[in-house]
Order: sequence, then C-alpha cells, then structure tokens
Amino acid sequence: MDMLKICCIGAGYVGGPTMAKISQKCPDIRVTVVDMNAAKIEQWMTDDLPVYEPGLLECVKEARGRNLFFSTEVEQGIREADIIFISVNTPTKTYGVGAGKAADLKYVERCARMIAEVSESDKIVVEKSTLPVRTAQSIKRILDSSSPDGVRFQVLSNPEFLAEGTAMTDLEHPDRVLIGGETSAEGDKAVGRLASVYRRWVPADRIITTNIWSSELSKLTANAFLAQRISSINAISALCEATGANVDEVAHAIGRDSRIGPKFLKSSIGFGGSCFQKDILNLVYLCEHFGLPEVAHYWEQVVQMNDYQRRRFVTRILDTLFNTVSDKKIAIWGFAFKKDTNDTRESSAIYICKSLLEEQAHLSIYDPRVGAEQIYRELGVDADCAQVTIAKNPCEAARDAHAIAILTEWDEFKMESLDYASLLDSMQKPAFIFDGRNIVDRKALRQMGFEAYSVGTGD
Ligand code: NAD
Ligand code: UGA
Repeated sequence: MDMLKICCIGAGYVGGPTMAKISQKCPDIRVTVVDMNAAKIEQWMTDDLPVYEPGLLECVKEARGRNLFFSTEVEQGIREADIIFISVNTPTKTYGVGAGKAADLKYVERCARMIAEVSESDKIVVEKSTLPVRTAQSIKRILDSSSPDGVRFQVLSNPEFLAEGTAMTDLEHPDRVLIGGETSAEGDKAVGRLASVYRRWVPADRIITTNIWSSELSKLTANAFLAQRISSINAISALCEATGANVDEVAHAIGRDSRIGPKFLKSSIGFGGSCFQKDILNLVYLCEHFGLPEVAHYWEQVVQMNDYQRRRFVTRILDTLFNTVSDKKIAIWGFAFKKDTNDTRESSAIYICKSLLEEQAHLSIYDPRVGAEQIYRELGVDADCAQVTIAKNPCEAARDAHAIAILTEWDEFKMESLDYASLLDSMQKPAFIFDGRNIVDRKALRQMGFEAYSVGTGD
C-alpha cells in the first residue's frame, strides 16, 4: 500500500505542534506542513521554531526530514495529499457585515478554492481551524462546484482542543479527539480513516465521533464554557475585594465540589489568547443570526466581564498610586497571555500597558519569551518611544520603579525564584506590587516592606 500522505495548510500554533505530534507517532505517514508565510516555514526548518512550546523542538527534531516536512509549495502539498488539514487563522472580522463579531473565513475559503483547483485525486478535507457551525457545508459546496470531474471530497470537522504552553502534553494525552463527519457510508469511511491515524496513540474510547454540526458547535461551546468559568470567578473576585473574602479561598472551597471541579477557577487580569474572545463573539454572532438574541446576550456578558476585570486592575493601580502614574516607572513582568508561550495575541497585558501609557506612565517591560519588537508592535509604539523600555530581566525592570505589575504567571516571578528583599532595596518607596496572577505571597512581601496587592483580596 502507498504511504498515507497528510498535508496541513497553516504552520501556526495549531498546525505546527499537531503535525509534529502526528508525524512523531506515525513514522509511516508523510506529513507536510505548508504555509504562504515563507519566513515562518524557514524558521520551522531551524531549531529556532516560530512557536515556543515546551517539548515541541524535541518532537519536531525526531520527525523532521524523516516524515515531517515544511514547505511553501502549498499547491504541491495539496495535490500530493490524501488527507488535508485546514489549520489557518480565523480571526474576528474587522470589516463589513458581522464586523467585530463574526469569524473572518476568507483564509479558509481560499484554502477550499485552492484544494478544488489543484486536486487531481479524491481527498479528505479536515477542518482543524475553529469555525462557525455549518462551515463544512460551504467548504463542500466550493469543493464540489469547482473541482474537476471524478474527484470526490469528504469534509470532516476535527477541532483542536490543545492549550498553548501545554500543547505537547495535550496532544500526547488528549481528553478526547472529536471527529464529525457526514452521515453517509462515505462519511463514515472518512471518519474511520482519520480516526485510525489518532488511534496509533489515543485510546479508542477517547475518540468521539459525531455529526459534523455537533463537532463544529462543540468546539465553540467548549471555549465558551471555559471562558465563562474565568469570567465567573473574576466577577466574584470583585465582590471579594469589596467584602474581605479571598477569591483563591473561595475557588478552592467551591472547586472541592466534584460537580464544579477545581480547574479553570484562577482569578486573574482576565483571559487573553487568540481564541476565547474570538470564539465567544463568533458564537454571539451565530445566535443573533439564528434569531436568538437572549442567548447571544447571555454569552456576550462573558467578554464584557473580561473587559471589566482588565479595567478594574488598572483602576486599582491608579487608585493605590495616589491617583496618578504620570512619569512614574512601572515594571511590567510578563507580556505573554499565559506562561510557557511566546504568544501575545489578545494578551491582557496589552490592554493594561496601553491604559497605563495613556496615563503617562513609563513602562519597563520584561518577558522571558517575548521579544522587544513584538512588544512594540502590540503596543503600537516605535522602538524609540520614551515611555517604553524593554528589560533583560525582572530586576532590571524593577530598578527605580514605583510599582511592579505581574501580568503573566511565569515561574521565574515566584517567591522561591527571586530575591525580593534586594528588589525592594532597588525600588522607589513605598514600593508597590500588583500581582495580577496571584502567584506571590502577599503577606510575606508585606512583612518585607512591600505594599502588595493581589486580585480578589480586599486587604
Ligand atoms: P496562526 O495564525 O498561528 O497560524 C495560521 C497560519 O495559517 C499562519 O501561519 C498563516 O500564514 C497561514 N495561512 C493563512 N491562510 C493561508 C493560506 N491560504 N495558505 C497557506 N497558509 C495560510 O493560527 P493558530 O493559532 O494556529 O490558529 C489556527 C486555527 O486553530 C484558528 O481557527 C484557531 O481558532 C484554532 N485554534 C487555535 C488554538 C491555539 O491554541 N492557538 C487552539 C485550538 C484551535
Ligand atoms: C484555550 C483552551 O483552553 C483550549 O482548550 C483551546 O483549544 C484553545 O483555547 C483555543 O481554542 O485556542 P489557550 O487560550 O491556549 O487555550 O490557553 P488557556 O489555558 O485556556 O488560557 C486562556 C487564558 O485564560 C489565559 O490568558 C489564561 O491566563 C487565562 N486563565 C486560564 C485564567 O485567567 N484563569 C484560569 O483559571 C485559566
């Protein structure tokens, strides 16, 4: 039998790690990841990968050149493949109908048209990107109406549930793999073929198959539920600050209820990342489109609560620093949207930094994985902006600062990793710490002489 060939369109945070894992686990499958971004493809061929994920480089190195390939030859990759994953970005639309809410499907449509145009043999086309319900129908129509006679396509939905920072373990031990397909004999066959790839390392009872619309909707729903938990605990954090309760204690207490569970109850400066907000807004748009305004309104609140949490954090800094941060140096620790990633998309740090800059603060920003250029770009400032400097380490950022704001929960900011006593010596007095991730011991810092605040504690 010929070697099975997989092509993945999109070498980003999902396409790269997922294909690295498939190729590592299935040495007999040839996997080609294609992208129109030549610089990114070039980087995937070096040891300085465009995506930072613990364990990713080792996985890539195992398979690269053996059965894992990166290429800008998108058409060739498509033509040669039996299974094509569409793993391109689906950002929120910024123009026209649905702007600010609907998913922009132009990249996905481009892929579908190209697949239709260049395919010379039957293909299984897999939606890996997160898409609105019923996108598979549009993809199928494009494929069927513009492909050469005799070439047949099956469209499957196989959403990705990995989280950044833990992508490689999530891929190695997924809670589930979800595959949605057309309810027909051919649909079942295609689902079986894709499932057989995952079965090489995922236990069969973790591979769920559904109809295609359920699969598409499950992905949006999973993200909406996860984000909702964060907004719920963040809403309670505001009440904790007003009443003297402690949000971590509340989270711990409710998390012990097995029906609630302990995960995703960490109060913070609000969720960031490229997907939660985008996917909820997409869900909201879909509900409005299908005439369900009450449902749309319900989910929209999750995003509004997140914005509120970000604003509250800035307000607390301002209030505590005697109502002004003008010309004050503030150390920003962490810029990525969570630890163990170099991704800054929709990071709460961006919103917080921009608000502080508007208040004329001077920011000294340190993140172990995010480069200066990326920070300047996200903040929309030039490299010579006098208000923003990039520090090489947390101590340099804090030197002479009035306050430290911890915006990402990197391990190196924890009490055991840093000499907080000498940090205190190097700062302006009173020296403030605003812990947006609740990772440091507020009471111990106060004993040292810091003015320390965390999220969801009133004292
Ligand atoms: P990304 O921006 O990191 O990568 C997308 C890549 O697709 C880019 O490199 C872009 O150049 C490429 N691309 C776009 N159009 C192309 C085309 N026509 N031909 C070739 N290449 C093209 O995006 P991502 O974070 O990997 O997300 C991809 C999808 O997966 C999104 O729908 C997202 O919602 C979903 N998702 C993301 C995550 C995550 O953790 N980032 C997790 C689960 C699902
Ligand atoms: C999230 C989901 O967890 C994945 O299952 C999903 O595949 C992915 O979105 C996606 O579709 O893109 P990700 O955004 O990478 O993954 O990371 P999360 O761990 O979910 O964190 C998202 C944000 O929520 C981060 O800013 C994080 O700091 C914040 N968060 C998370 C909290 O504030 N509190 C928590 O308890 C958990």
